[in-house]
Parts: sequence; C-alpha cells; structure tokens
Amino acid sequence: MSGKSPRITVFDLAARKGAGPPIVAATAYDAFHGHLLAESGLDIALVGDSLGMVVQGQETTLPVTLEEMVYHTRMVGRGVGGEAFLLADLPFGSYQSSPEQAVASATRLVKEGGAQAVKLEGGRDFIEHVVRIVRAMIPVVGHLGLLPQRVHAMGGYRVAGRSPAEAERILDEAHALVEAGIFALVVEGIPRELAARMTREIPVPVIGIGAGPDTDGQVLVLHDLLGWTSEKDRPRFARPFSDGRGEALRALAAYARSVREKSFPSDRESFHSLNE
Ligand code: KIV
Repeated sequence: MSGKSPRITVFDLAARKGAGPPIVAATAYDAFHGHLLAESGLDIALVGDSLGMVVQGQETTLPVTLEEMVYHTRMVGRGVGGEAFLLADLPFGSYQSSPEQAVASATRLVKEGGAQAVKLEGGRDFIEHVVRIVRAMIPVVGHLGLLPQRVHAMGGYRVAGRSPAEAERILDEAHALVEAGIFALVVEGIPRELAARMTREIPVPVIGIGAGPDTDGQVLVLHDLLGWTSEKDRPRFARPFSDGRGEALRALAAYARSVREKSFPSDRESFHSLNE
C-alpha cells in the first residue's frame, strides 16, 4: 500500500537553512485560497489563527477555537492537495494548560485536519509542551516576537525586542525552542537587526513577518499581500502585491450597475427554450 507523499516535507524546509531560495509562506483559510497558493508554487500554507480577525471579523485571535482550526485546516488541505506544506496554528487556550493538552490538540490538527506540523506562540513557558508534541511525532514550528495571543498581557500589538535586554531574552528563547525540537521558527514584529542575528545564530529556518529581509523566509497574511485589506487595516510591513480590494470594489460596482440597468444577463448569458 502506498499513499501520495506531500511535495514538501519538514526535511525539505529544514534543508533550506542557509541554502537555496528563501522559504515563501502565506496564510490560507479555505480550499479555494489553498489551491491558489499551491498553484503559485508557495512553499507553506499556514492556517493561521489570524483567521479570527481576517475571516471571522473578531477583534483578536483569542476567540478562535481548536474545532475551528481543525475545520479550516481540513479545507485548506483539500485545496493545497499536498502541493504546499500544510502548517496549522494551535489557537489560544488549546495548549497553554499542560503538555498533555498541547499533545492532544496538536494530534487533532494532524489527525482530523491533515496538518503536517503545528505552530505555537511562546518560548521558555512552553518548552515541555514542545518536547512532548515532538515526542508524539508531530513537527513543531515556534513563534516568537510579537505574539498576538498575548495582546492583553502585552497591552496591545507592539514591536518586540527593541531593547538589548529584550533582544537577548528573545534570542535565549529561540535557542531553548531549538533545543526542545522545533524544526523552524516564525518571528513576528522584531527589529531586522535582531532577526538577522537570530537567523545567523540558530540552526533551523527563521521565517519572518515584519522582521526585515535577512531571515530564511517570509510569511504574510494572504489578504494583506493580495491587497484585499484596506490600508488602514494593513500593518506597515505588509506589502500589497496587487490592488485586490480596488479590483473587487470595481467588479462589484460594475455588477450592481449592470443588474440595475438590465444589461446583465445578456442573451448570450441566458438559456433558451427548445422551441425558441
Ligand atoms: O496567524 C497567523 O497568521 C500567523 C502569522 C502572522 C505568522 O501566525
């Protein structure tokens, strides 16, 4: 018996450390966009808990449940079809309580969602959690810097690691996570100098978001990079690579106009009875 192997594995990603082109990742939340992302040749489809804000319209990522992550991961997996690495976030409240809870939640994302690996936010507080997930044969990606799940604890979304002491603390946490067994690390909202130093120092791929150009890869929220989010809702570091929002607004306005003036549908866009 043999199944279809995914095109990109943890070993392929790990091998990109310091070699080959940078890793390209973006978020996806459903099958349609997972397919688009895989067809474009991106390396990683991240089912981020940012879906709470991006597709559920929540203020933060905190309300996102494990059930919802499993559901979205399964959808994205169908779209990706093994052509991009499928990574899923452990949402707030699904891993913090204990290593046992972390293993159980990670197992659901893999077993029911089809994820190839899970990502969790935090460093030294969750070392045992990472060790235990890895021991359960589930690859783990760390996430340091600005941690959206700590929005209340941090008093908002702020660039992390600007002071030398905080930079050292984040570096120390990165080393601890590597020792615990992560195979890659996402760093969010940190100074480019710190990201560059971390990329030089730690032996696993460092994938940045709002962390400058010197990492082993980049990740962006799909809706930001396609330009669907309005400028005021888009972080400064997120470059829109198309005018998705403008295009969508123009298309919807044209559709509404055509329906109202009765130029849509045309005869060519209509069916005829057999005797007409
Ligand atoms: O949830 C998410 O989209 C993420 C990225 C910001 C890295 O974790």
